[in-house]
Amino acid sequence: MDNNGYSAVAQQLKGSDILKIANRLREMIAQGLRVCNLSVGDFSPKEFQIPDTLKKLIIESYQNNETNYPPSYGTVELRKSVQDFYKRRFNLEYELDEIQITSGSRPVAHSFYTCTLDKNSTILYPVPSWNNDLYAVLTQANEIRLLTKAENGFHPTREELEPHIHKAHVLALCSPSNPTGTMFTEKAIRGICELIIEENERRKGKERPLYLLFDSVYWMLTFGKFQHYNPVVLYPELKPYTVIVDGISKCFAATGVRVGWGLGPKHLISKMTHVIAHAGAWAPRAEQIAVSKYLYLDEDIQQYIQHTKNGIEQRLHKMYEIIQHLAQKGYPVYAIEPQGAMYLSVQFNLFGKKTPQNNILKNNNEIAEYLLDNAGLGVVPFQAFGYPEENGWFRISVGAVGMADIEWLTAQLEQALRQLNS
Ligand SMILES: Cc1ncc(COP(=O)(O)O)c(C=O)c1O
Repeated sequence: MDNNGYSAVAQQLKGSDILKIANRLREMIAQGLRVCNLSVGDFSPKEFQIPDTLKKLIIESYQNNETNYPPSYGTVELRKSVQDFYKRRFNLEYELDEIQITSGSRPVAHSFYTCTLDKNSTILYPVPSWNNDLYAVLTQANEIRLLTKAENGFHPTREELEPHIHKAHVLALCSPSNPTGTMFTEKAIRGICELIIEENERRKGKERPLYLLFDSVYWMLTFGKFQHYNPVVLYPELKPYTVIVDGISKCFAATGVRVGWGLGPKHLISKMTHVIAHAGAWAPRAEQIAVSKYLYLDEDIQQYIQHTKNGIEQRLHKMYEIIQHLAQKGYPVYAIEPQGAMYLSVQFNLFGKKTPQNNILKNNNEIAEYLLDNAGLGVVPFQAFGYPEENGWFRISVGAVGMADIEWLTAQLEQALRQLNS
């Protein structure tokens, strides 16, 4: 078959399913229809802005003409600042050459995958999870997708990982999680950390190690009693095998500013930095200088995070209440209590229901379309995160909506559910 001379990677690579839904919503908005867009994992600057101080520091950096190439590792100032930040926040000690600065945090994951995986290796990751399926294609690695359970907050357990761990070269985890908004409990993450340590002990000197990619980009966005646990804090002996992904995109509502960082073993960070250099995926120098100064402003950060968290939590809890209220009324809906990040896991168990147009809802996409057309509600099916089960689970993301949008949705959603027949 003619494939236009594309590589195997290009032939398999597809765009993000989430963006497809976002485009559909945009079309509806362009047609003048009202929607409640809970589909994008981004912040609307109308609702959540970056910290004022950070904005001023960025402008100042440009005024100081900080506009040429930064070093491939990132500026010394920012690596030092990240180093101190991790020391203050986590009591973790990283050397400067164990820290990599990138253009947002996804190049950390991408360069990590490029350096640890190829077609002779295997990545193990839970589903639903963000982008691991796409990165696996990019590296052509074999993949083991572990189907997680709602009762575990869609996180894997040690027992579930254990049968696969011998085959894996990388285990990719994320907490607080995109798409579920849930977090590992201390007990659960401890169990997994111990499994990785035992596995690496077994492999020592005989087999290549098992690396852990721990994506913690939402770590500051946690609610109430739910706490973030960093694997290297819990088990310092994991440090040689762990790369932590972090950055400003989510916690500082700065997705378009593009500054991220990775922390990991020196030899691996050095390789990953070559990938970043060849891809040109540096964070802009002016932003690096600004973030390097901002990370020292603990009080400013604390106030900002508290304010942002309140806004996100208020929206998530309102959505959670709406779903609980509908469930009490007998509608087949369910949600997991918000724990962290900006997401809520919601189940619309509408399979086999008949729409007013006499269509039977047969899969998650049809449910998503029904909710969009009849309630103006934009949600993303877990299928967009590699989850294979058609059981009505969706991601709700609240960063781009105001409370008024959610209030508006309440009646719309109930009406859309009411007009479905069994
Ligand atoms: C879990 C997770 N990691 C990483 C990223 C990428 O962040 P960035 O925009 O900094 O590349 C995202 C973005 O949605 C995410 O959800």
